[in-house]
Amino acid sequence: MLAEVGAAVQRHLELLVDPISGAHLRLAGGDEPSLVAPNGSRYPIRDGIPRFVEAERLPADQASTGETFSLKWSRISRFGHDEATRDFHHRWYLQRYGWPSEEDFAAFLRTCARVLDAGCGVGRDVAWYLGHSRGLVAGVDISTAVDSAAENVGRHERLLLVQGDLAQLPFPPASFDYVACDQVLQHTADPRASFRHLVSRVRPGGVIAFYVYRIKGPVREFCDDYLRRATMAMSEAEAYRFSEAVTRFGKGLTEQQVQITVPGDIPELGITAGTFDVQRWLYWNVFKCFYNADWDWETNVMTNYDWYRPATAFRYRPEEIRAWIAEEPLEIVHEDIGDAGLSYRCRRTAS
Ligand SMILES: C[S@@+](CC[C@H](N)C(=O)[O-])C[C@H]1O[C@@H](n2cnc3c(N)ncnc32)[C@H](O)[C@@H]1O
Repeated sequence: MLAEVGAAVQRHLELLVDPISGAHLRLAGGDEPSLVAPNGSRYPIRDGIPRFVEAERLPADQASTGETFSLKWSRISRFGHDEATRDFHHRWYLQRYGWPSEEDFAAFLRTCARVLDAGCGVGRDVAWYLGHSRGLVAGVDISTAVDSAAENVGRHERLLLVQGDLAQLPFPPASFDYVACDQVLQHTADPRASFRHLVSRVRPGGVIAFYVYRIKGPVREFCDDYLRRATMAMSEAEAYRFSEAVTRFGKGLTEQQVQITVPGDIPELGITAGTFDVQRWLYWNVFKCFYNADWDWETNVMTNYDWYRPATAFRYRPEEIRAWIAEEPLEIVHEDIGDAGLSYRCRRTAS
């Protein structure tokens, strides 16, 4: 029973440590198999996945953010595993992290003995990394998304999934050749500290790639703060209804295909001259009303829910992130300043 339940865990046991003490763990049987630290701390293994988080011990905002994502991923548990959403995300990922082609990225992954997807959601990129690499791929997420990731990716000798907090990882320092943290840091309780922790898990010479939300124009920022305050105070059902309403709005405007021309820049409002689709213009300048006609309704609703509902969703200027990087043993390989977010690929220097 123990051998079966913990097969993947057993295979990669040398990589797992107590996230608090850093001590190595041993596998223990009993009614519920678990990982046990020398000081007696015990981490259950449920459905073959070690569980390193207990909601009661997380900061309240982080626990609530975890719940939001558990709900989101339970509603769209196959997100990124169907052609439309997977191709969209892979293209976007390669562009943001400065890979000229998927083959270039695959060639890089083949050089990696260990890859970590920090905040892996339902495993879209875990499956991608496994497909291209020859080494271990670990995925960690604070939410129950790891269960969907396990189902989506399937059993694999080189796969290790854990439910944990990327700010307190159950892996020793300098363990990974590549750490990817795509669209996650802003949802952690203290993104600066989380980033430092992640960097410490990259081996010297290894690579870290991450994306954080960008601060937008003042009207959009004002609406985001105002609306997020309101949605966080709502019940889950109310927040879902609100997300449906803004999705319906985005869909309606998208289908009308109306263009507007802005005659001149208004730098104080972050508004630029040009001709724009009205839905895109409102989306970028006033409030998030996402809609993508290639995606199903629920995925569109959940994309808006993912913006409005998490208790923690910090936003940054490029200068702030460059300052973070300058304080770490990192050099920037590629920087992408997008409308919605900031993406960086950095190499860890020798120190
Ligand atoms: C916007 S989703 C991105 C998921 C995935 N990286 C992707 O690109 O599809 C953010 C994910 O971060 C996870 N998350 C938030 N805070 C976390 C933390 N402190 N540690 C680990 N995962 C976290 C959430 O549960 C969620 O699955």
